This record gives sequence, C-alpha cells and structure tokens, in this order.
Amino acid sequence: MCGIFAYAGQSTAAADMILDGLRRLEYRGYDSWGWPSATMAASSPRSRWVKSAARPSICLRVRQASAIPAGRRMGASPSKMPTHTRIVPAGSPSSITASLRNHDELRREVLASGKHDFHSETDTEVVVHLLEDALAQREDQPEAVVDAVREVFNRLEGMNAIMVLDSRADTLVAVKNGSPLVVGYGAGSNYIASDAAALLPHTKKVTFLSDGEMVVLSPDGVLTTSVVSGELRQPEITELDWDVEIAELGDYPHYLIKEIHEQPAIVRSIALTQGELAQKLADMVRDSFGTFFIGCGTAGNAALTGQYLFSRIAQHHVNFEVGSEFGYLEHFLTPRSLVIALSQSGETIDVIEPLVRAKKEKGIQIAALVNVLGSTLYRLADFDVLLNAGPEKCVLATKSYTAKLAVLTLTAYAMDGRLEEGKELLLGAADLIEEQLNEQQKAHIAELADRIYEAEDMFVIGRGLSYAASLEAALKIKEVSYIHAEGFPGGELKHGVIALIEPGTPCVVFAPNDETRGGILSGAQELKARGAYIIGVSPEPSDAFDYHIRVGDAGDASPIVNAVPAQLLAYNLSLKRGTDPDKPRNLAKSVTVK
Ligand code: G6P
Repeated sequence: MCGIFAYAGQSTAAADMILDGLRRLEYRGYDSWGWPSATMAASSPRSRWVKSAARPSICLRVRQASAIPAGRRMGASPSKMPTHTRIVPAGSPSSITASLRNHDELRREVLASGKHDFHSETDTEVVVHLLEDALAQREDQPEAVVDAVREVFNRLEGMNAIMVLDSRADTLVAVKNGSPLVVGYGAGSNYIASDAAALLPHTKKVTFLSDGEMVVLSPDGVLTTSVVSGELRQPEITELDWDVEIAELGDYPHYLIKEIHEQPAIVRSIALTQGELAQKLADMVRDSFGTFFIGCGTAGNAALTGQYLFSRIAQHHVNFEVGSEFGYLEHFLTPRSLVIALSQSGETIDVIEPLVRAKKEKGIQIAALVNVLGSTLYRLADFDVLLNAGPEKCVLATKSYTAKLAVLTLTAYAMDGRLEEGKELLLGAADLIEEQLNEQQKAHIAELADRIYEAEDMFVIGRGLSYAASLEAALKIKEVSYIHAEGFPGGELKHGVIALIEPGTPCVVFAPNDETRGGILSGAQELKARGAYIIGVSPEPSDAFDYHIRVGDAGDASPIVNAVPAQLLAYNLSLKRGTDPDKPRNLAKSVTVK
C-alpha cells in the first residue's frame, strides 16, 4: 500500500517526473510521502529529505512555491531520485507502524549501540541506521553499498521493499520481500516503481522483481542478482500491453465513473477471449478434490457469487471463505485441493498469506483470477486467469468485480459443457450494462441519490445469486458515501434486521426474474409495512417499490448487470455528500499488511 518511485537518468525534469510517479501511485493508498531533495545529483551528494502529509498531486500544483527544489536546478548531471509514499495501517501518520516483524528487536539493538538517534517512529528508519553501520565496516570497498544492503536486507523479517541511493557510485540499489517492485527500462534511463501503472508514461518494458532479487540501477543499465548468493540473474522482461491513456482520467471527472463506464467493453472482451482459460479452470475444478474460492472485500463478494454460480449453472459444490478467515479452515486441505483466489491487485496479504502456507504445508493447487500481471498472487498461482480489466485506479473496485463475475460465469458454463451459451450470455449482459449507462438511466439514479443522501442507514437485500450482489452494493455505498449500509440475505430480515427499520429508511431490493423473486418481494413488503423506502432493482415493476430502477433480465448474469446501478448510486451519493469518490477515507487500494 506504500509506493516507491525512482528514476536513474539524465532528465533535467526529474523532480516533475518523480512527483508525477508518486501521483500515479497515490491510489494505492498513502497518508504521507517524502523524497530526498534535488541535491541527489552526483555533483552534490548530500541529501535533505522533503516530507509531506499532503498528496503528491497537491504538491505538484504548489511546487512553484518552491517547497520542493526544481529538477531544472540539477543541470545535466545524472540524477537518481528514490521517493516514496506511505500509509500507516492504524493510528495517525506519525504513530509507530510495523510491517517489519522484527522491528522492535532491531530498534533495541540500534539504540543499545548508542550510535544513533531515531528521528521518526516509522519501522523503516531502523533500516537506515543498520545500513549506516554496515557501510562503516566497508569504508572504501568498491561494492560497499550493495554488500551493506544485502547484509541488512537478510536481517529483515516481514514484508518490505527497500531502495537505497548510492551517490558515490551513482546507482540505485533495490530489493524486496513480499511487497511488489517493478523495474522499467527506458533509453538512457531506468526506473523502479511499486506498480507498473506508474511506469506507463515512460516505458512498457518491465521486470516484476521476485522476492530476494536485488537490482542495481544506473542510467545505462540494470544488474540483477540474488540477494542471498550474489549470483547474477537473468531478468524476465515483460512487455506491458496497457496504454498510458487507460490509466488516465480522460474526459471523466473521477476514476470511479470512468471505470464504471469501462465495464461493457471488459465483459465483452472476456466473452470473446477468455473461453479457453475458463475451460481449463473448469477442468481443474472438476479434477480437484474440493475447490475453495477466496477473496477479500469486493473480491470476496465475487468469490461468494462464484459459489452460487457453480451450484446453479454447473450443479457443482465449491466452498467460499473470505481470505482473512481461510487460514483457520486449512485443516481439510490436501494436495488435491484447489484454491481459486480472487484479487484485483494480487497483493492482498489476507489472501496471499494463507495461500503461501497452504501451498507449503498441504501442497494445494492454486488458481488465481487477478488483474495485475506479475503481482505476487499471479506468480504464486499454478494457473492464472488475467482479468485484463486495465489498471483500476479508483480505490473502489468496480470493473475488476464484474470482470471476475464474468470469468466465473463463463467457467461455470464451461464446466457444464455450455461454454458457447456462457459467451452469448455475457455478450447480452454487456449490452444490458450499456443500458444502465445511458444518460436517462444515470439521471434517474442521480435523482434517487438526491432523495436519500441524508440517510444515516441503508439496507440492501437479495436472495440466491442476488445475496452476494446485496453485500457488494452495500459495500460500495458505505465505502464511498460513509452511509452505514448493510447487505443481507432477504430471508434473514425477520431474524433481527427488521428491528432496525424506521420510517423512511432506504432499502434496496434486488428482485430479478428468477426463483428468488416471490420471496424477496414479500420481504420488501414486510419492510415497507414498517415504513422503509423501497428501491427495487428489477426488470419488472412491483407494488412493493417506492422507486424502481429497471434493469434488463440478464438471467444467470444478473449479478453482473445489477452491480452497475448500485455502483452508480454509490457514486452519486458520494457526489451529494461531498466525499472523494476515488480515495475514500481510511481505505487503500492494495492492503499488504495484516
Ligand atoms: C481493499 C480495497 C477493496 C478491495 C480489497 C481486496 O480493501 O479497498 O476495494 O476489494 O482490498 O483487494 P484485491 O486487490 O485483493 O481485490
């Protein structure tokens, strides 16, 4: 969830480039950032850190006020600038944070030596002091910094990515464990970033670093070695097929609405291109002795939908669990178990950690539905289905969610020997999503937001396939509007939730044309009788509805189509309530700490 961006090259506009790199990493989640100032030019190796709790995008605008030294002042000497954004998992930005597991022990050791003062409470500061000591023992040795980084890195426990500027050798040294780092290769310039999306304006030639790989970057080249043995490694170079525009806003005011609009094309492309992969995944499910779907947040809701899709379409039982609980259910796993992990970023620690353990201890098979090429999950899995949804910059997951549902639907159809039917269904669903995105329908949903935006609580109900849809709709609403919203299975209402209904409480009811319609409408009537304001998402009107959002009848693809009005409602509620649609408070796009 932190972000590192560094550049090794000759550009005199390095400062702007780096701030832009940080800006492109903002969406990962951060609350402060810092960089060594422009004195990183080799001619003037003493550095001074600039730190800020403001967003890099804000600083980019105020930079003329010279809070940050301009790159132009660096002249033509090679400049290397490692920078980072960071986020604290809990507490305020200045509180102690620990992704280094042995941080306390290392900090005690450094303090006991009496040689260093700590200037911050961040766990990573200990790395700098350890490096200083390791360097002091290697005065004047040619590879001093590389050796020192190697020694210190091998002492760190827990996830980390570190990058060190060697101003004497004019190089950047980087190494990682768990957290992602991507090397980008340009002409006479090389880059490192936590995320390939930040490299897109500069290069599409990248290497996703593996754990324990160390790189030494200079403007002229990149040397990759094993951090343990020092042996040379041949880097695997990948060509990104994302265009830089895909990570830009274009004419949209927010990434959230932009990414909502990208969904028809993504669902269509999955129908047309992912059939073969879906068939392979279906065969893996058939051959396994027990399949588990896991994911967190929105990906967890997609995984739960998968359980219903497989039951309904392929008459096949699969298990579902949220990633953070899966580790407590590993007792049943065997080498024939298949765990299908869903994750947009491929970095979510609550998914990765139990998988790594289960792979090591139980020898399970792992398949992944993942959006980020080269991510930790992508590399961990035995089989990958890339979602190809393009970079998802809004913290709220939208297009990656419907992409996962599309792949799962196709896989369930493939398992039942009806792949072509599944493709047709998805193509039809893409058209129905487009209907949700026409101006009239968007205005209709904006009007609903106008009516209900002052609500303190909202409830969303659905049954069967629409149960997971109700969880996801409630998640979207609460994440971005901060209205307390809960999703429930329609049948559970009378077992408690109904006590919370007050006159005027908005309740969204998913009532597709399937076997759940009768039951869910009677639940809606019960709510209405207690004064709830019923918002029906349904192909057909009903007396139970106070406000009807018409959606086309998508059959088994109804979770895909029904997700869209909920996303639009969440977006409009955010606009009405004045919250940031792209970067909701307290949330990060990629949660890499427990
Ligand atoms: C965070 C994000 C959610 C996302 C979840 C899982 O909590 O705020 O929007 O659904 O992580 O992310 P993943 O990258 O694994 O899909």
